[in-house]
Amino acid sequence: MRMYDLIEKKKTGKELSTEEIRFMVLHYTKGEIPDYQMSAMTMAVCFQGLSERETLDLTLAMRDSGDCLDLSGIHGVKADKHSTGGVGDKTSLVLAPIIAALGIPMAKMSGRGLGHTGGTIDKLECFPGFTTALSEETFIENVNRIQIAIAGQTANLAPADKKLYALRDVTATVDQLSLIASSIMSKKLASGSDVIVLDVKTGSGAFMKKEEDAKKLAQTMVSIGTMAGKKIAAVITDMDQPLGNAVGNSLEVVEAMESLSGRGPKDLMEVVYALGSKILMLADAAASETEAVEKMKACVANGSAKQKMAEFVEAQGGDASYVWDTELFPKASREIEVPALQEGYVNQIQAESVGAACMMLGGGRETKDSDIDLSVGIYLNKKVGSYVKKGEPIAMVYANDSQKGEDAAAQIQSAYGISAEKPAPSKMIKAVIQAF
Ligand code: URA
Repeated sequence: MRMYDLIEKKKTGKELSTEEIRFMVLHYTKGEIPDYQMSAMTMAVCFQGLSERETLDLTLAMRDSGDCLDLSGIHGVKADKHSTGGVGDKTSLVLAPIIAALGIPMAKMSGRGLGHTGGTIDKLECFPGFTTALSEETFIENVNRIQIAIAGQTANLAPADKKLYALRDVTATVDQLSLIASSIMSKKLASGSDVIVLDVKTGSGAFMKKEEDAKKLAQTMVSIGTMAGKKIAAVITDMDQPLGNAVGNSLEVVEAMESLSGRGPKDLMEVVYALGSKILMLADAAASETEAVEKMKACVANGSAKQKMAEFVEAQGGDASYVWDTELFPKASREIEVPALQEGYVNQIQAESVGAACMMLGGGRETKDSDIDLSVGIYLNKKVGSYVKKGEPIAMVYANDSQKGEDAAAQIQSAYGISAEKPAPSKMIKAVIQAF
């Protein structure tokens, strides 16, 4: 078999066989197929697409390119949750302890942030001492003992995807639906949980700007998961404006801890409860969405979710006193008010622009090795639908560098749209995709 012939075949719109896909992934991972040939292949895929069968084969080949976690040592139905990435997305920090407090083992793999979207690992590292570099034994032991562990992706989990994703990133071939679906699902399948709930974001701050594309991506991932024997659902959620009010690592952790105390922003809690009810229903821990939401709300109200968060932080080496007293998190040295340019209703807050402003402050990663400042960020005082007076502070910028702070404040000001008419409320939960 020759890679040249496979490229030619895909270029002319033909289907690759299972053996051809496995050959390509295996030899690319071993370094026996050069990047230039694989780039030609991914570009051919962008033009010709992959069939459902080819997408499944690519996912399974990438899953099998490295280690698959064996979670059989964990008692009960193991759950994982994944977001396709958004601005202000601290959902996992609220959802995971709630699910664990309800007795469902949350065995989660997370990533770091890249570009304008943040990552759960960076947020967790705001707790001094916290580590996600857990051995497989510690990961399993923690989930059995306290029902929750969150680990970083190990080097040998789906290494083919790691290599291919880096290549796609520099060859303008990231935004192909089958390539995104197989990339995400190869890692989720290798992580070994039984229940997978996907949060597929759509809107200005998401990969999938259009709802119909988000639905197609969700359907593809759900069908891959189902064919691989997983209980899986996807929830399409709004990312047209940032989720919640806080954007930036420490600020988001503070908002998540407030949410665990029952003071969470409405949009964030809506997403948490929508994803959580899918997890509880797929894990047979609730018979209906109403029952699931009641259970989750009770767990926040009686303090058990917050208690679980503290146990989790401590179990992974972090200082749990920060869970109870969020004043301990380091603050940026400068606070800059962002005044409204006119009176009226906020009708948009461009999520991608807010994410870019956070990066400008040093709160996001330009490349995967960049250092980030955990204390900087933005707090949105006003969200879409709020009425504001001219000059009223619509947001606050937290910066450690005056010039960067001023630049970010200007960027935030232009991310807001204000009009005389009140915008129609938009739905947070756009659709739920599940196999039947
Ligand atoms: N996230 C991934 O893990 N892979 C993609 O291709 C896109 C987003």
